[in-house]
Amino acid sequence: MRAAVLILSQILGDFTSGVPIPAPEFPEKCTSEENCCMPYPYTGKPVRQFTIDPNLPLRIRRPVHKLNDDEIAKLEKGYQLLRSLSESDPRSLSNQAKLHCLYCDNGIYYPGMIWPLEIHNHWLFLPWHRMFLYFHERILAELLDDDSFALPYWNWDNQSEEEVANTLPDIYASNRSSSLWNHNRNKCAQQPNIVNLNTVGGCTEKTPTELRIENTRLMYTQIVSGAPTPRLFFGQAYSYGDGGGHGPGTFEDNPHGTVHLWVGDPDAPNKFDDMGNFGRAARDPIFYPHHANIDRIWTIWKTMPGKQRMEPNHTDFLDASFTYYDENADRVTVKVSQIINTTLLRYEYEESPTAWITNGQKAGYENSIPVCNPMNPSQTNAMIIATPELTIQDKLGAEPLTFRVPRPERSDVGVEVLEIEGIKVDGRFQSHWEAYLFFPSVDINTPVSCPEFFGTFNFVPHVGQAQFNRDRVWRVAVKDKLVALGKDNYTDIIVTLVQFGPNVQPLGIGKARIVYDASPATLE
Ligand code: C2O
Repeated sequence: MRAAVLILSQILGDFTSGVPIPAPEFPEKCTSEENCCMPYPYTGKPVRQFTIDPNLPLRIRRPVHKLNDDEIAKLEKGYQLLRSLSESDPRSLSNQAKLHCLYCDNGIYYPGMIWPLEIHNHWLFLPWHRMFLYFHERILAELLDDDSFALPYWNWDNQSEEEVANTLPDIYASNRSSSLWNHNRNKCAQQPNIVNLNTVGGCTEKTPTELRIENTRLMYTQIVSGAPTPRLFFGQAYSYGDGGGHGPGTFEDNPHGTVHLWVGDPDAPNKFDDMGNFGRAARDPIFYPHHANIDRIWTIWKTMPGKQRMEPNHTDFLDASFTYYDENADRVTVKVSQIINTTLLRYEYEESPTAWITNGQKAGYENSIPVCNPMNPSQTNAMIIATPELTIQDKLGAEPLTFRVPRPERSDVGVEVLEIEGIKVDGRFQSHWEAYLFFPSVDINTPVSCPEFFGTFNFVPHVGQAQFNRDRVWRVAVKDKLVALGKDNYTDIIVTLVQFGPNVQPLGIGKARIVYDASPATLE
């Protein structure tokens, strides 16, 4: 029966709950389209199972912009050593980049499966990258002969004006002969430009002040108001037999994906290389402090108020396993349940300011920002009456698309979420939209600092996965935003999607509805 369900699910590319992905074996005959094959034959000891090493010193990962001279020297030395490893060593920087690529660009198949393994666009994104970084750090520690070595994190979420945390860090960007430097980067991502967390890549006309405000409110929307549950923060379920990522968490989309695009060079022969293409992103040393910050924000997300801010507890999540190379160049398999607690893994993050948690406002005043499109109750009701629901023919093109979504009866179980499913993206190209509540007159220039902004969809292309690309689901919590707008007492919501970016493609959009998300208690 299970076999039949698996075969059916392969044909449909559907989610089959019940079988976590087993640790994959690296292919002997590697077919990776982007040439991401690991050195073969595999050397080293037989594959081992990961165990926590309680004797490792506790490593404190610090913000890059605060590293002292000794820490910088050590980091540079580590990457020098990493770059000088031979191509037959799976630990070399280019082989680590290949390993990342192998896992997402059509490089690994389970026996008999028609779908390649994918570690983006679903709930295993965060744990896979946590352990990828863990071994990256352990490999550097081994090369440096220093068990206390800690990776730094790139603190791009910190918009404070007193410390320069949100530019491409100096030590990665200013010296061409540094081992931390990479040639394929966006010219507008250089100092003193500050990061644009809502970018589609390339440059922006926005002032630093505008960017600081927008970055802060965008972080609040993506991570606090938009993602109070594991389903929303981690993304859709992914199990054995499942084809392709079905939908990322809000956080994977943005800022994770957008920072990738901001750093990548839009004028490179492969547009947005290296960071803007998952197949090559991990060649750039900035990939690692970027992902350390992603990993750090996962630890912060759990500490925010809300009873659903915890990891998925489904066995398809906890029992999923992956294979990596460890510091001795041996293969090692790790189960997700082993890596939830970073203190057990013997690392922690030094604290940095997190003004975004309260929307850049004083705590308790998150909703004090004036709306951009004030409407009184009769205008609101008139808008609800005049706006049709989404139909299957509707496509999101260059013009904003506005539709009404009826709200079901209130539930005390779970949080209220807008779900848009059946989104058809051409996987070869980027795709982005912003979503607004009760604001049909928005256009591509409307800033995400407006309280009506409630989420964004961002797709970073991966070449190998393009042909297996499946329809996507986009979900985001709406309740806090409705409260902020004073619109929680209406029967329907009015949603406007604005597509923007270099290739505005006609996106098919299947259906929109409000659901209650009770995860982790249920997969809904
Ligand atoms: Cu596997 Cu930031 O990507």
